Amino acid sequence: MEIKNTDLFKEQCYINGEWVNSNNNEIIKVNNPATLEIIGKVPKCGAEETKVAIEAANTSWNNWKGKSAKDRSIILRKWFDLIMSNQEDLAQIMTIEQGKPINESRGEIAYGASFVELYAEESKRVYGDIIPDPLLDRRIVVIKQPIGVVAAITPWNFPSSMITRKCAPALAVGCPVVIKPASQTPFSALALAVLAEEAGIPKGVLNIITGNANEIGQELSVSPIVRKLSFTGSTKIGKILLSQCASTVKKVSMELGGHAPFIVFEDANVDDAVLGAMQSKFRNSGQTCVCANRLFIHEKIYDEFLKKFTVAVSKIKVGNGLEEDVVSGPLIDAYSLEKVKEHVKDAVNTGAKIAVGGDMHELGGNFYKPTIISNVTTKAKITYEETFGPVAPLYKFKTEEEVIKMANNTPYGLASYFYSRDIGRIWRVSEALEYGMVGVNTGLTSKAEIPFGGIKESGLGREGSRYGLDDFLEIKYINMAGI
Ligand code: SIN
Repeated sequence: MEIKNTDLFKEQCYINGEWVNSNNNEIIKVNNPATLEIIGKVPKCGAEETKVAIEAANTSWNNWKGKSAKDRSIILRKWFDLIMSNQEDLAQIMTIEQGKPINESRGEIAYGASFVELYAEESKRVYGDIIPDPLLDRRIVVIKQPIGVVAAITPWNFPSSMITRKCAPALAVGCPVVIKPASQTPFSALALAVLAEEAGIPKGVLNIITGNANEIGQELSVSPIVRKLSFTGSTKIGKILLSQCASTVKKVSMELGGHAPFIVFEDANVDDAVLGAMQSKFRNSGQTCVCANRLFIHEKIYDEFLKKFTVAVSKIKVGNGLEEDVVSGPLIDAYSLEKVKEHVKDAVNTGAKIAVGGDMHELGGNFYKPTIISNVTTKAKITYEETFGPVAPLYKFKTEEEVIKMANNTPYGLASYFYSRDIGRIWRVSEALEYGMVGVNTGLTSKAEIPFGGIKESGLGREGSRYGLDDFLEIKYINMAGI
């Protein structure tokens, strides 16, 4: 890794404006998933250090919420500028800890920064309301206030943007935050804290704690001081956090697993659909909650789609993400690799055929070949479980009614996609898909301006856009009498 601003690479936690170790000096080693080399270490903190971070955040709250929205906005805007002026260094850090291709890392830094930019603007638009009171001498006034200390638990697949997507709206409305980044990718988070400090975010307002996920997660969820927990990760862990948060009736946002259908109707532009499938399925080597997990192709265009998709997938260059021309990096770890292998093996055993890939990559380590499996049956595990890897399973369908049923046959409801040129069908299918997000004739829908989130077991709440502010605000009603 070659970074110009070496101050960005921190191996300590950031609590109450100071760079600190864990109480007992225990550490977690972090590796590069492409080379399996150790690239650094971070403190292995637990409940005690988490309590300190929560206290620090709480102490800073009055001062932070007491600032004018405009003053918070100026600081956030400065943070955005600093992130963008350090984009290349931040991207390098991300690629060595996460493995994604350097171009994707550059894109993620800009994506992450765009939440800071958006919420720097939105902080000035936290409007209230006045409601006519049935009694003539009274007025009903509604104001919105910051909820208080926010805990954010973020994943390894988007080490920077999932932090800004949670923290920027929280900070914008006046909430302090305690962030627990994934242990696989802490350096991107710590680098953001360096720039937050430089931007003028006061001490205690933004804290980053690394370490034992169970202990830290438990403390963040049971602490009565923390008034809101925002989590991105698996549905399994989300359910545990939800039950832990029940003890203090905390407000929660959960951005959990997905099992996105990607439907190509017979009237679609097949070339566009192939491009969309490439973008949706293979971004971050298929390690996104929104990636296409089940590709339903109409029988009339199935062969054409399969042929064109196979040509495109066989051209994907796999390798170390630091090489400029690489478009698919490694999986994050051996556990993820095993799951991918198991899903492909099971699909083949239940009748599917490998069109391309289907095996470990020659590079070894955590690398798996970009894969298409055709004629997948409903017996295969991949039909029901999220794979989180570079595997595209293809299913053939005949009718709109049949494919909607298949697409909705899952407890998940995050992202969905379909391709069609028929305006009537576009409305019908968009409304019938039981998902929080629908991409029509596109495989890429993420941006700061959208309300990102899912229904069913994919989560609660929305992130991004003006809707993303609501999750960090409490509504207060004031009845004014004697007017
Ligand atoms: C995710 O996979 O968790 C987020 C993906 C995105 O923001 O596009």
